[in-house]
Amino acid sequence: METKSQGYLHGYTAEEQNRLYQQANFLETSVFESIDFSKSKRLLEVACGVGAQTEILLKRFPQIKIDGIDASQEQIRTAKNHLKSSIDNGQVTLTLGNAGQLPYQDHAFDSSFVCWFLEHVDRPIEILKEIRRVLEPRGIIYCTEVLNATFFLHPYSPATLQYWFHFNDHQWNLGGDPFVGAKLGNYLTEAGFTEVTTEAKIHHFDNRHPKMRKQMLDYWTQLLLSGTAQLLESQKVSEELVMQMREELELLKLAADSVFFYSAIQARALA
Ligand SMILES: C[S@@+](CC[C@H](N)C(=O)[O-])C[C@H]1O[C@@H](n2cnc3c(N)ncnc32)[C@H](O)[C@@H]1O
Repeated sequence: METKSQGYLHGYTAEEQNRLYQQANFLETSVFESIDFSKSKRLLEVACGVGAQTEILLKRFPQIKIDGIDASQEQIRTAKNHLKSSIDNGQVTLTLGNAGQLPYQDHAFDSSFVCWFLEHVDRPIEILKEIRRVLEPRGIIYCTEVLNATFFLHPYSPATLQYWFHFNDHQWNLGGDPFVGAKLGNYLTEAGFTEVTTEAKIHHFDNRHPKMRKQMLDYWTQLLLSGTAQLLESQKVSEELVMQMREELELLKLAADSVFFYSAIQARALA
């Protein structure tokens, strides 16, 4: 079965790889506050990227042996450098491979962690079925995914909203799904998982949390710009729109009453 992303919106530059480490650290509390792998011994991290979440998993659940897999040679190479000591002591194994054809035996793992991944693939249910195959019965999975329709900014920022439309539209045309978070309940159920629950991971910052609002706007600026090279190249956006968006984002950081809202979705289910 050929199940892979048609293209990868963010690319694999050193800057983008560095953004993944910053992203994992910045969002750690939100992503991990409900995740409990304390009873896990053998975990599969699908689309482990540069190993940013692997490092957090090791810190929070030091008893787990982790297998990470990613389809990108560049990501796996960087992850291997980053996690060298855990690889050397046998706690982490990293493999280059496609999540649609996992190179593991049936029931090899008791848990799986998937984060910011299913938005990039064209057949998420096939991948979830494949993950279920390698999980033992009642093995646990946590998936944390985007729901880009929830993005809201005040003051009104039309250039940023236009850019955001093209960012998501481009990802959709690459075969991905920037709204996959809302569909996790259906997809996990269709893939055969049981006891599926979902939780909205809301990021809502206003005058009550000016420091966190500023940090989120800085983080979000980097996320938006991570797609700029591809969006310019495919002529989805103009240099002018990017400049206007940058100006709006700077104004938002200075505005006295700005509001940022976004929600991701986290699903938990049993194999
Ligand atoms: C946004 S990154 C997230 C990485 C990591 N989960 C994190 O949170 O830092 C998405 C990753 O999915 C990987 N990827 C895309 N399609 C894949 C596939 N079919 N199989 C395995 N990995 C894939 C990309 O190479 C990239 O490293």
